[in-house]
Amino acid sequence: MTTLRAVVTGASSGIGAATVRQLREAGWDVVAVARRAEKLRALAEETGASYVVTDVTDDESVAAMAAEVLSGGPVHALVANAGGAIGTDTIAEAKVDDWRAMYEVNVLGVLRCVTALLPALEESGRGDIVVLSSTAGHIAYEGGGGYVAAKHGSHTIAATLRLELAGKPVRVIEIAPGMVRTEEFSRKRLGSQDAADKVYEGVEHPLTAEDCADAITWTLTRPHHFNVDLMVIRPLAQAAQHKVARNQGL
Ligand SMILES: NC(=O)c1ccc[n+]([C@@H]2O[C@H](COP(=O)([O-])OP(=O)(O)OC[C@H]3O[C@@H](n4cnc5c(N)ncnc54)[C@H](OP(=O)(O)O)[C@@H]3O)[C@@H](O)[C@H]2O)c1
Repeated sequence: MTTLRAVVTGASSGIGAATVRQLREAGWDVVAVARRAEKLRALAEETGASYVVTDVTDDESVAAMAAEVLSGGPVHALVANAGGAIGTDTIAEAKVDDWRAMYEVNVLGVLRCVTALLPALEESGRGDIVVLSSTAGHIAYEGGGGYVAAKHGSHTIAATLRLELAGKPVRVIEIAPGMVRTEEFSRKRLGSQDAADKVYEGVEHPLTAEDCADAITWTLTRPHHFNVDLMVIRPLAQAAQHKVARNQGL
């Protein structure tokens, strides 16, 4: 039987790293992609994945990554997970540079990886593209404008591509998580561990990186005629973007 091979972007931490682990456990060959070489090297040693240091905001870097991946054989899945948020400015206070940076990684980063690998995914005869958007890709919230705009862009890539690929052997799957407690996401967004901890304060069991990797791996391991268009996943404590049950510490 053919060994399936996936490229996972944003693999140096959080959801991406957990996805590399779970796909390796499921028997896939995996190429882990991110900017931090040390983290990728450690993950590769742990899991047997290979890795390519790549900046998804850079055309040449993505082209070089794709060339290296394709020189190693067929590719069956792209998990376009690299992304993130910057700050919580209101629209009135928004910084154009922050918005540009969020658009670069969450929208154009996905686009670059998709266009670089799409011919090979089609050629494989059973390709998959998984886009990590967010519930922010579906609903606005105060102080989230730049991230919400960018994640609507990630969602739009998935939704448009699925239509454009109708009849071709490539599934397009969108995973939209709500509150996920990963080690770095909120710290990078808010600039300190204290501020990051407050995001999850009193929330019983936010989703974990492993929960999201489980969802990704589940969709990828369905029979290939079975396409999960969109999977929205949240912790039980988060009924909607603004409806989060928090223990009051009584
Ligand atoms: N945590 C949440 O609450 C949550 C909820 C919904 C959706 N999401 C989405 O899920 C994805 C993963 O989030 P996470 O929580 O796992 O965050 P994370 O731990 O901060 O992971 C982000 C990953 O993206 C990589 N990355 C960032 N910029 C990059 C670039 N220019 N080129 C290549 N790689 C880049 C980072 O690695 P390097 O820095 O090494 O490049 C890192 O591996 C993101 O798209 C995020 O927006 C997260």
